[in-house]
Amino acid sequence: MESNRVTANSLFNNKSGVPFEFNRVAKKYDVATFLSQGYQKDLQRSVDRLNLRGDEFVLDLCCGTGKSTISCLNNLPDGKVIGIDNSEVMLRVAEEKYYKQYDRNKLEFVQKDVMELDYDDNSVDAIFMAYGIRNMPDYNRALKNLFRILKPGGKIAFHEYSLEKNFLSHLYWKTLGYFVVIPVSTMISGSSTIFKYLVKSVDKFLSPNDFTNLLSETGFTNVKKHNMPTWRKPILRTFTASKPNEND
Ligand SMILES: C[S@@+](CC[C@H](N)C(=O)[O-])C[C@H]1O[C@@H](n2cnc3c(N)ncnc32)[C@H](O)[C@@H]1O
Repeated sequence: MESNRVTANSLFNNKSGVPFEFNRVAKKYDVATFLSQGYQKDLQRSVDRLNLRGDEFVLDLCCGTGKSTISCLNNLPDGKVIGIDNSEVMLRVAEEKYYKQYDRNKLEFVQKDVMELDYDDNSVDAIFMAYGIRNMPDYNRALKNLFRILKPGGKIAFHEYSLEKNFLSHLYWKTLGYFVVIPVSTMISGSSTIFKYLVKSVDKFLSPNDFTNLLSETGFTNVKKHNMPTWRKPILRTFTASKPNEND
């Protein structure tokens, strides 16, 4: 008999199921990230690297429970951020936390598959994506669409795990993953699948050089990679880039 059980491997092979797996851990997600020392500070560091003016229209893609969305909002005294995610329950947690505090003309959450964003060409000032691009089933197609919707001169930043192509980096990540991330997060959330998928998807994601090359090949300019000055230095980076101006 064929089994429909979702496993880390089946999720890796069919990433469209990732948001539905996040539904199962959504209520405990903030507890897990709270225990991950400096999680919010590192998110803010990546948003700061976007160098926003403060009055832009920004998309926070794969916003989850809104932790990255709030980091964007901190730098938008006169702007607006829309957090987009395809996990209904992650978004519900975000809305419960922030809709009481913030007006919809400053902050909004929308359920949508990031692979299917249908904003007009050249319509978005800036894009932030934390722990998101790795979950896209087709990096190329996702990046082309983000390039399309960004305004000329618009900025983009990815906050993502990306390992150097060497044995030690992958060993460091797998040791952290199998001995800390999976056991602790499973204990907190009661489900292990998404965390096993996390360890595998990071292990298989592009190296910093390969990802910056892909950004350049997509057409982005000013492509830069930045390290974290924290314990996440060997594993987590910010990648910043911009869409060229028409006269560039
Ligand atoms: C690790 S969480 C990151 C949450 C948030 N950005 C943060 O920094 O705390 C990844 C999120 O990506 C979402 N996601 C994964 N694939 C997606 C897709 N194709 N479209 C929309 N959301 C997606 C999941 O539902 C999940 O909430």
